[in-house]
Amino acid sequence: MATINSNFLKLKAGYLFPEIARRVKAYTEANPDKADRVIRCGIGDVTEPLPPSVVKAMHEGVDEMGCRDTFKGYGPEQGYAFLREAIVENQYAELGIAADEIFISDGSKCDTGNILDIFGAGNTIAITDPVYPVYVDTNVMAGNTGDADPSGAYAGLVYLPCNAENDFSPAIPEEKVDLIYLCYPNNPTGTTATREQLAAWVKYAKENDSVILFDAAYEAFISDPAIPRSIFEIEGAKDCAIEFRSFSKNGGFTGVRCGYVVLPKSVTGKAADGSRVPLHQLWNRRQSTKFNGASYPVQKAAAAVFSPQGKKEVAALIEHYMGNAKLLREAAIALGLKVYGGENAPYVWIACPDGVDSWGMFDKMLNEAQVVVTPGSGFGSAGEGYFRVSAFNSRDNVEEVCRRLKALVA
Ligand code: MLT
Repeated sequence: MATINSNFLKLKAGYLFPEIARRVKAYTEANPDKADRVIRCGIGDVTEPLPPSVVKAMHEGVDEMGCRDTFKGYGPEQGYAFLREAIVENQYAELGIAADEIFISDGSKCDTGNILDIFGAGNTIAITDPVYPVYVDTNVMAGNTGDADPSGAYAGLVYLPCNAENDFSPAIPEEKVDLIYLCYPNNPTGTTATREQLAAWVKYAKENDSVILFDAAYEAFISDPAIPRSIFEIEGAKDCAIEFRSFSKNGGFTGVRCGYVVLPKSVTGKAADGSRVPLHQLWNRRQSTKFNGASYPVQKAAAAVFSPQGKKEVAALIEHYMGNAKLLREAAIALGLKVYGGENAPYVWIACPDGVDSWGMFDKMLNEAQVVVTPGSGFGSAGEGYFRVSAFNSRDNVEEVCRRLKALVA
């Protein structure tokens, strides 16, 4: 009989967002009269249509595929040069990143999980708490952890709590860790890191020979020019960091799928014989073996995000979602709730009213207001007592959520 990867059995029941979807489905089935009233502010899934420039470029890509002269079969596993170059020109022009250090993919969720293929066993791994659950679950699947304790914390991971006391900025670990996951602007707390804070992480990584896995999927939502958008704005990061970016949230690609990894050739890891090996070489090998590239029409569409018209359209989308975040923040603050994030990120992180825990607030919002939020504890035990409201929605829905929140909490 085929044996299984028993690490999967260590995982908690279900991945957070499908679990939320399951509970919402159960609620709407039990309350069909309320089903149409449900507003989803749980998973951070975009709601607005693709920018017209993106749609046009995707159509053109499909037309090319339908014509013998312009048809394309397998593309480069690392992505087409036109997109890699557009990314460098538009996102990394002054940061010394080369086009061949960009690897196009079908999204950051896959990339942040797949990256573990190139790291060995026995690494000490630090994650923030609360955290995007993919970082934890993929390490569990890879066998990098022991079992979870009753609070859901896995043996072998170094948890870095982020709470109101430390302004949701994790302390630099006292012990030596090999891999550090950072996500800024942060999912789920919507908070950001200053240049000094990121510089402290890079200093730590260089001193301890660690690698920073920097998830910048939400960088487009930063409006404050003082806040770094890339870890590579920090001196020395090109020796110790890998960055993950996505077209999901800025270009509205959650249903289209396109992201990229930025892996400078100067980042190395240690082989069993003690020699240093560029991680770029390993990732290139991994992608060439396990991935055949994002589709051509999708890469054409992604490149259109950087066209002059595409930039205007993306800016309008960001403005729309951040306008939503502002309304949600203001509504919660007016109710006397403690509110974090939502200023340079599309997530608003709210402390539950006294006496209500995270899943209690989820149930209350669903049962009494028909609004889906994400319970903070679903992102880790330090998220207990909070809930996350996603600003990805229509303006009408967000205004309605503000009204219902008021009726519920006031
Ligand atoms: C979230 O809601 O945290 C995100 O949508 C998850 C994701 O991007 O995979």
